[in-house]
Amino acid sequence: MLAIGCDHGGFELKNHIIGHLKERGVQLKDFGTYDETSCDYPDIAGAVCNAIVSGECENGILVCGTGIGMSIAANKVKGIRAALCTDVYSAKMTKQHNNSNVICLGGRVTGRELAFLIVDTWLDETFLGGRHQNRIDKIHLLEK
Ligand code: RB5
Repeated sequence: MLAIGCDHGGFELKNHIIGHLKERGVQLKDFGTYDETSCDYPDIAGAVCNAIVSGECENGILVCGTGIGMSIAANKVKGIRAALCTDVYSAKMTKQHNNSNVICLGGRVTGRELAFLIVDTWLDETFLGGRHQNRIDKIHLLEK
């Protein structure tokens, strides 16, 4: 199960991504927001990330205006490795090297078709493990 969420700045792009994921047959849970009324992105980032660390969901996608606020907030949650992606190469590498469990996108930055490529690349890539796992272990030591 994939968790997805947005604020008002990411609402339109999130809806496009949901449509794309459904076409791919991805099971998802939408944590809002559900309209373009102004809201606070940390609330949504918290809901999505808590669903991941609790095991309810496996991974997540967060969308705000730039993707920056969502990524800052998501990375405050223990166990979350959130990557802001604005290009396909970063989406590929953040799965291979960082085993990111969340990606963040900017609804006012990234167009719909590029967002689909970023999401597909990230979902289809696999983590390489090995020395990258050691580095991830060191990231999580920083949480202590
Ligand atoms: C909302 O106006 C905007 O600040 C938010 O969507 C996001 O871009 C924050 O980083």
